[in-house]
Amino acid sequence: MNRKVTVVGGAGNVGATVARAVSQKELADVVIVDIAASKAAGVALDIYQSCAIGGSASRVTGVGVEGFAETANSDVVVITSGMPRKPGMSRDDLLNVNYKIMQDVTAEIVKHSPNCIIVPVANPLDAMSQAVFRLSGFPRERVMGMAGVLDSARMRTFVAEELKVSVADVTCFVLGGHGDTMVPLPRLSTVAGIPLPELIPADRLQAICDRTANGGAEITKLVGTSAWYAPGVSAADMVEAILKDQQRIMPCSVYLQGEYGINNLFVGVPVKVGARGIEQIIEVALTEAERAALHKSAGAVKELVDVIGI
Ligand code: 2OP
Repeated sequence: MNRKVTVVGGAGNVGATVARAVSQKELADVVIVDIAASKAAGVALDIYQSCAIGGSASRVTGVGVEGFAETANSDVVVITSGMPRKPGMSRDDLLNVNYKIMQDVTAEIVKHSPNCIIVPVANPLDAMSQAVFRLSGFPRERVMGMAGVLDSARMRTFVAEELKVSVADVTCFVLGGHGDTMVPLPRLSTVAGIPLPELIPADRLQAICDRTANGGAEITKLVGTSAWYAPGVSAADMVEAILKDQQRIMPCSVYLQGEYGINNLFVGVPVKVGARGIEQIIEVALTEAERAALHKSAGAVKELVDVIGI
């Protein structure tokens, strides 16, 4: 195919799910890179063979980090490498170890695909996205962290369950950092255009918002490691919006420069996503309480960013 997507850390659970979704949808050829070279080759081969079922022409290959040149001129690079959470850990506990990995990985990405769009997925997501942005020297349009698509998918699932309606009709809006302080916004979330507060009592709505904010921890506790299906498919959804120039409005972690009164920090906000990456940052009017919650969440991201000095 004439498009190429690289998944760094692609032999892991999240990365393999991204590679599978991108190739299954025949969006691009996929290169999996992983420190586990043999596993990368094997996982890629398995996914490649799965493309035969359904007839996708995507080619999937896997290499170790010494084979990074295979990724040359990728259109999009998804970074899923990094340590996942164990039960009881917060995403922030991964800060230093994953920052080191971002340093190594970003240098290779820039060297081999200087014009790509990078989608960081590693946690703590917003701080790692900021690290990749600074280390890459890319314009802000070309670094967009995956978090809001996942968080809003979780909220949509819980709303659909609550109301016994099709999730296809549920749109949810989640702002802020990808952590405990994230800001689900029921006021701007709807079922077929009907705002959630008109459909769900306040206490049930609050429970849904709380469950959304703890959605990653809930799965980590059950499984013993971080989630991968929903995170992987969420990243693939962003890749699709980029490669097809869909101009979709998606919540992404992006570098804010004054939008929402936040400066020089990666935080999740609604973004128009297309072939150039971030086509536009959408600013919506917030209530006082919503704005305060967003700024609190941004403050939590800033604390992490300050620890690693980026
Ligand atoms: C999650 O929320 C992996 O951070 C990711 O499940």
